[in-house]
Amino acid sequence: MDRKEFLALTGMSLGAFMLATCGIGCKKDDEESASKNFTLDLNAAANAALKNNGGSVVNDGVIVARTNTGNFIAVASACTHQGTTINYEAANNRFRCPNHGAVFNESGGVVSGPASRALTQYKTELNGSTLRVFS
Ligand code: FES
Repeated sequence: MDRKEFLALTGMSLGAFMLATCGIGCKKDDEESASKNFTLDLNAAANAALKNNGGSVVNDGVIVARTNTGNFIAVASACTHQGTTINYEAANNRFRCPNHGAVFNESGGVVSGPASRALTQYKTELNGSTLRVFS
């Protein structure tokens, strides 16, 4: 193999590697920022946790929580560090990842790492006993 062949081969390998890496990374970013629009029936057993302040449920990649003051909030449920499903900690008004301990505020902003990117925040709208979660 001469120098020209070597450079062509390694250049193609590097290009293929970067394309694969970008493809995976880009897909993850797209999934995290995907638009959402769903409703939760607060009378359904699966959503019973939302009847009480401090409760939360995970649905369609979103963690929906009822704060200590009774407001509904929603953010992407996958930690931006490595994707672990986060928990809502009503007593501390925050979300926390059980894997490596990243902490996010109720708007999804990073309070402490290792996560460095905010969680996508979603809007909520209550109509009777139906809670709509949307982008
Ligand atoms: S996966 Fe959440 S802090 Fe690492």
